[in-house]
Amino acid sequence: MSSTLASLREALAHSPQNVPLRVHLARTLLEAGRADEASVEARAAVAQDSDRMDAREVLGAAAGALGDDAALVDAWFPIRTQLSADDVRVLALAAARTGRLNEAREAYAVLHAVDPGVHDLELDRAMRTTVEPPKLASVPTSARPPRPPDACAEAPVRGTRPSINFSDVGGLETLKERLRMDIVYPLQRPDLFKAYGKRIGGGVLLYGPPGCGKTHLARAAAGECGAKFFVVEIQAVLDMWLGESEKRLHNIFEEARASAPSIVFFDEIEAIGGARHQLKHGPGRRLVNQLLAELDGAGGSNEGVLVIGATNAPWDVDPALRRPGRFDRVVFVPPPDAAARENVLALALRERPTENLDLGAIARRCLRFSGADMHHLVEVASERALGEALRTGNMRPITQSDLLASLDRVKPTTVEWTETARRYVSYANQAGLYDDVGAYLRSLEG
Ligand SMILES: Nc1ncnc2c1ncn2[C@@H]1O[C@H](COP(=O)(O)OP(=O)(O)OP(=O)(O)O)[C@@H](O)[C@H]1O
Ligand SMILES: [Mg+2]
Repeated sequence: MSSTLASLREALAHSPQNVPLRVHLARTLLEAGRADEASVEARAAVAQDSDRMDAREVLGAAAGALGDDAALVDAWFPIRTQLSADDVRVLALAAARTGRLNEAREAYAVLHAVDPGVHDLELDRAMRTTVEPPKLASVPTSARPPRPPDACAEAPVRGTRPSINFSDVGGLETLKERLRMDIVYPLQRPDLFKAYGKRIGGGVLLYGPPGCGKTHLARAAAGECGAKFFVVEIQAVLDMWLGESEKRLHNIFEEARASAPSIVFFDEIEAIGGARHQLKHGPGRRLVNQLLAELDGAGGSNEGVLVIGATNAPWDVDPALRRPGRFDRVVFVPPPDAAARENVLALALRERPTENLDLGAIARRCLRFSGADMHHLVEVASERALGEALRTGNMRPITQSDLLASLDRVKPTTVEWTETARRYVSYANQAGLYDDVGAYLRSLEG
């Protein structure tokens, strides 16, 4: 490496105006872990030609390696639309940390343009905590969380139209059928439901271990019936400035009502129940009341608006949220069985080169794997094949042995949840609420 560097430096000494060469040197220095020298060369390259995308790219990366947020923003902000999504996120965070909120917001907007559903908690938090709070006489300073200059509650609420449907969800057939009856058909054929005297409305609460498809299913349900999909991250809403979270929630529901048929999806819904237990008054409590009012139609009608909640901890969900007309159907989303795991494997592999795979054999060895774990397995196997393709220069398909070798490197992530659930099923199975979990636990023993 040092000889490469020495010859690059020497070549550059002969042609100091060669900007591509200087950028190459900067990148090589950065790759060698010499970020400070890389930064000097990249800065010189940008000074020579400030429009060079690659020079700015290296300069920002070097600044990132040196922990210099301001320099990173200076380098990357002008090329924000050409960066990878990951880098744009890094840019937005650095801008938020240095209090450059307009730049942070614009970078965030670039992310949104690529993925309208993007919702980055860390970024939201950074943008809220970097700005001086406004002077409010009525609230003691210590109780005042900081807020950005323009209220998040006023930000336009935009739903998405998911492009996936139930065919993108592996296995879980009974669950899909259930959601068709509870969500899809009521939104598609409200006339029939009314004709047969079936009530439409209320919500479905999906619960289960992480990574087993709760969010994925909710999104797919919206895609299945062409409904608009609104995501409410309870933690993010709870984090908002006093009074804003209620307004934000109300705005989301208003928008959902205006664009019906629509589905409002609440992630981590137990967070709001927890808030109610801990706080008799204050923001958490007010938000619960607001949510209850919205679920009841908030003075108008929720026709064409269905709600889905998701949680890993159903035992922490506020019982008030489970009353009739609210989240009154509680549905367990189990880890996939072997057939479903095979299905998820096939979905994850469908756009990659493969050869002679016996997915059933792999799936059978993935006891207690979640859907996300199955995806992870495919990533690891793909990297193995890719690594070899890069070394040899020959592209080869993903093979059974790639998948088998990857099994050692991926561990099931549902075990801890299952052990927690086991305690609740034994000691707190109110009204048979967790019977389905009980059946799943017994199936593990069998
Ligand atoms: N049955 C499935 N079919 C296809 N993909 C799945 C399935 N289950 C999980 N996945 C994949 O795993 C990823 C994680 O799933 P998802 O985010 O829906 O899990 P979750 O149950 O909402 O987890 P968490 O409790 O952590 O929010 C998804 O992006 C999806 O690609
Ligand atoms: Mg989820």
